[in-house]
Amino acid sequence: MGNNRTSIHGQWTSRTVFILAATGSAVGLGNIWKFPYITGENGGGTFVLVYLLCIALIGIPIMMAEIMIGRRGKQSPINTMAALAKEERRNPSWVWLGWMGVAAGFLILSYYSVIAGWAMSYVFRTAGGMFLGVTADGANSIFTELVSDPERLLAWHTIFMVITIMVVARGVKDGIEKAVTLLMPLLFGFLLLIVIYAMSTGYFMDGIRFLFTPGPIDGKGILIAMGHAFFTLSLGMGAIMVYGSYLSDQHSIAQAAILIALADTVVALLAGMAIFPIVFANGLEPGAGPGLIFQTLPIAFGHMDGGTLIGVMFFVLLVFAAWTSAISLIEPAVAYMVENKGYSRIYASISIGFFTWFVGLGTVFSFNIWKDKTLTIPFLFEKLTFFDTLDYLTANIMLPLGGLFIAIFAAWVMREQSTREELATFPIIYKLWRVLVRYITPLAVMVVFLKAVGAI
Ligand code: PFF
Repeated sequence: MGNNRTSIHGQWTSRTVFILAATGSAVGLGNIWKFPYITGENGGGTFVLVYLLCIALIGIPIMMAEIMIGRRGKQSPINTMAALAKEERRNPSWVWLGWMGVAAGFLILSYYSVIAGWAMSYVFRTAGGMFLGVTADGANSIFTELVSDPERLLAWHTIFMVITIMVVARGVKDGIEKAVTLLMPLLFGFLLLIVIYAMSTGYFMDGIRFLFTPGPIDGKGILIAMGHAFFTLSLGMGAIMVYGSYLSDQHSIAQAAILIALADTVVALLAGMAIFPIVFANGLEPGAGPGLIFQTLPIAFGHMDGGTLIGVMFFVLLVFAAWTSAISLIEPAVAYMVENKGYSRIYASISIGFFTWFVGLGTVFSFNIWKDKTLTIPFLFEKLTFFDTLDYLTANIMLPLGGLFIAIFAAWVMREQSTREELATFPIIYKLWRVLVRYITPLAVMVVFLKAVGAI
C-alpha cells in the first residue's frame, strides 16, 4: 500500500484486537456516567436523536478519517500530521492539530481520573453492604458525603492515575489487548442484567419514553449532543489516530469504524435504559447532574437478589472501562515523547501522568472547597466550576474543532488518490465517505457551533 513506514511502538496482533482496543477507548465513563446525566439535563428524546445523528453522520466518517490518517503516518498524532502534510506538500502548520489533540487528551484525563476514582470507591462501598435496602435519600447522602471529602477524592484520583501510568509505561500491547478481550463482553453482560432489573421496576416504559420521545432542545443542547458524539467515540484528539497507527496495512478501516461506533452506541443506550426507569421508580430527578448513576444504580443493587455481587462487579467493570479509555487519552502524548525526546516509555508516562494528576486537583476541589468558585464562559452565560469548565471546553469545543480539522485534512488536504488507496473499500462506500467528510461533516460542525453561540 501507500507507504513503507512502520511504527516504532509495535503493531496490534490482529484486526479484532484493534477493534477491541478502540472499543475499549470508546466505551468508558462517557457511555455509562456521562450519557445518562447529560441526556437527563437536556430533556431526553430530542437530545438522544441529535446524538444518534451525530454518531452516524459525523462520528463514523471522522473515525474512518482518523484511523486512516494514523495508519498512513504510523507515528504519534503530532508527527503523523507533520509527515502527512509534508508528503502531500502542504503547509507544515497542520502539526498544530496534533498538538491540540495532545492538549485535549491531557485535560480530559485530568478530570476523567477523578470520576473514575468515584467508581473505584463505589466498588468498596458496594462490597461493604452500604447500599443494602438503601432509599433514594440514603444513596444521595452517601454520594454527597464522598464528593465533599477532598482527601478521599484525592486518594482515589491518585490510585487511578498510578494504574493508568503502569499500563501505558509497559506498552499498550501486552496489558490492554488481553484486558479488553475479557472485560468488554462482561461489562455488556452486567449492563443487560441491570436493564432486566429496570424492567421489573414497573417504570421501564417511562424510561424508554424519556429516552425516545422528542421534546424541545436549544442550541446549547445540540452542541452538547454533538460534543458528546466526539467524546464517546474518542474522536477529535488523536486517540483513535494513534491506535490506527498500530494497525496493519491489510485491514479494512470502514468496517472496523462501524463496528466500534455500533458497540459504543449500544452500551450508551443500554445504560440509559438501565438508569432512567430506576430514576422514575424512585421519584428522582433525571437532571441530577454528574452524580446521577452513583445515586440511582446503588438503589437497584440494594434491592435485587445478589445485588451486592452484581454491584461490585458492575463498578469493577466500570473502572476497567474507564481504565481502557484513560490509556488512550495519554498514549498520544507518550508516543510523542518517546519519538521526539528519546525518553523511555516509563519516563514519558510518569512525567505526563504527574502533570495530569496535578491538574486533576482542580476537579477534586470543584466538588467541595472550590464548589462556589465559578467562571463565566463566553457565549454560554452560565457560571461553571473548574470541572464543568474543563468538561465544556474539551468535549464541546476542542474535540469538535479537532474533528472539523481532521475532516478538512482528510477530505481537502490529502489527495483523493492517497485516501482511496488507504481506505481501500468498495467504491460506493468510498464515495459516501468522501461526500460526508468533504461537505456534510464540516458543515454540520460549523452550523452547530454557530447555533450554540446564537449567531443563527
Ligand atoms: N470515549 C471515552 C468515554 O466515552 O468515556 C472518553 C475518551 C477517551 C474521550 C479517549 C476521548 C479520548 F480520546
